[in-house]
Amino acid sequence: MKLGVCYYPEHWPETIWAEDARRMVDMGLSKVRIGEFAWSRIEPSRGEFDWGWLDKAVETLAVQGLEITMGTPTATPPKWLIDAHPDILAIDAAGAPRGFGSRRHYCFSSQTYLKESRRITESLAARYGTHRAITSWQTDNEFGCHDTVESYSENARLAFRLWLEDKYKTIDALNTAWGTVFWSMEYRRFGEIDLPNQTVTEANPAHRLDFQRFSSGQVIRYHKAQAEIIRRHASKADITHNVMGHFNAFDHYILGRNVDILTWDSYPLGFLDQAWWKEADKQRWMRSGHPDFAAFHHDLYRGCNQRWGVMEQQPGPVNWAPHNPAPRAGMAALWALEAAAHGAEYCSYFRWRQAPFAQEQNHAGLLYPNSEIAQGGVDAAAAGDILSQIDLSQQTTHQAPIALIYDYESKWLFDIQPQGAAWHYEKLCFMFYTVLRRMGFNIDIISPDAPLTGYKLVAAPSLPILPETFLNRASKAGAHVLLGPRSQSKTRDYQLMPRPNSLEAVLNITIPRSESLRESVKIPINMGLSAAHACIWRDLVETASDNTAVIARCTDDYPAFISQGGLSYLAVWPDKGLIKSVLTHVLNTCGLPQLWLPKDLRVRQFGGLKFAFNYGSKIIHLSQLYPGADYIYRTDKLGPANAAIWR
Ligand code: GAL
Repeated sequence: MKLGVCYYPEHWPETIWAEDARRMVDMGLSKVRIGEFAWSRIEPSRGEFDWGWLDKAVETLAVQGLEITMGTPTATPPKWLIDAHPDILAIDAAGAPRGFGSRRHYCFSSQTYLKESRRITESLAARYGTHRAITSWQTDNEFGCHDTVESYSENARLAFRLWLEDKYKTIDALNTAWGTVFWSMEYRRFGEIDLPNQTVTEANPAHRLDFQRFSSGQVIRYHKAQAEIIRRHASKADITHNVMGHFNAFDHYILGRNVDILTWDSYPLGFLDQAWWKEADKQRWMRSGHPDFAAFHHDLYRGCNQRWGVMEQQPGPVNWAPHNPAPRAGMAALWALEAAAHGAEYCSYFRWRQAPFAQEQNHAGLLYPNSEIAQGGVDAAAAGDILSQIDLSQQTTHQAPIALIYDYESKWLFDIQPQGAAWHYEKLCFMFYTVLRRMGFNIDIISPDAPLTGYKLVAAPSLPILPETFLNRASKAGAHVLLGPRSQSKTRDYQLMPRPNSLEAVLNITIPRSESLRESVKIPINMGLSAAHACIWRDLVETASDNTAVIARCTDDYPAFISQGGLSYLAVWPDKGLIKSVLTHVLNTCGLPQLWLPKDLRVRQFGGLKFAFNYGSKIIHLSQLYPGADYIYRTDKLGPANAAIWR
């Protein structure tokens, strides 16, 4: 795995570029990303290009042997362009334009902007496409950041109508699929259909789901328009896009198929502070990030494209979370090693030097604004040092024994009609993941349509639209399937799944209704050694009292966990005790022995090497868990923010 950094030469005097480049190399960095927000410097006015500075910056970095990723600057259309074409601006759900003065203010459906994006991409790619040092290209920057996938513009409305017509062919088919007879919502022509915003109460869920699918497709279409141009000019370079963590508004599996390498931006402390964890967990891991959060995304994005990397790695405190603590010294090195253990091709820090001006002046860099080295720089150098001591070149990621299904459509579907305020698709998937990781496993995260061959266990925490072939494919692959609550509850058209569905047929049960619960309600379940409860959600399963497939029941007798042959079904949202017991049961069925790691320790097998990571503040001794390990980096005594590696 290579290390890199994101650099903004346009923010600094030319006189310091050469020194910056030398110091990058000294720090052990070999990759550098530039350009992704520099439109106003590349083309200060329409058609007046200033390539001089960028030529020089590229050459300065190239002379030091750095590999460059060139970003297209389309996340930041400049003022002159917006003033000439206000139709570029995205429109929010309340109908207001999203103004100039920050970034990402464009609408994915704007034809003008698509044309302008092609034009700037063409100019940039024509100039640098064959440059010896530019080994990869990044389209735009973080599609959808700041809630920008959906736009309620006139352009979006017209494009959505065409998309619907292409999908349904006839208006009758759409009316049937959406159930528009309800509340007299019937349409006579595709041209009558508006976007699902500004309705009095909830818009039709099928309408909303289709709009989300459409909006996701617009992002991919926009990316492809740039990729096609870059490919023409830079046939040997890799094309990537840097996606985010915690972000679901477009289908990342589809984007993954349209890049050579998928990269993502990892900010472990920012994500922890922002997301759903309990106060005690936020405090416990405030300087390390949640031990599974980056790992979850490494595994997810490897499931989108086998080639993947980290384009932006947090180096120190960020500026955008509600609270922005400093990472523990060494953490930014550990995060890089965790990425290496998951098979990343590179890990690149954001950013080289902290900018003393504008929106991100409180965001750390590897250097302070005065060019003195910051803790992030110390950690990056340490990561480089460790990577130079261990030889990872012979190692590759093997298929994990366990696949976790993560599905973007499921997430959209539940967001549209949660049917219970506490229902949270991402959180449920993460709960499965974190328990499996504490049990010591490598996990692959894959889409419901991915091949299942080679897996012993395929776990779908919830899969409301169960692909027709799913159970068959799993059974052919010899994989045990674990489905969570609400699985197979809906059709692709966002209607209730007709019963009996295949889950009911195989397990000899019926699921006539479900209920959602207040978060404080916990219904006890008899299973395993630890206390187990159903909370948040129950599918209320009915079955004969002598159905031997029922493994555990709630105290009011409703089955909670059912398992027979190659299929297990968890009918309720589990608390930690229940999910542990359920996973233990299915893993034993699959013949997969488990560990139970200390709360702050995580391990990952990478080829023939095992990596261990300490996310806590105290020393962890590895010898009890892994006696006789043949260490190639560090030993049994693992300090805070330390990693150890053994054969
Ligand atoms: C990312 C973004 C960067 C920078 C960074 C700050 O989301 O791609 O441009 O804003 O966050 O943490």
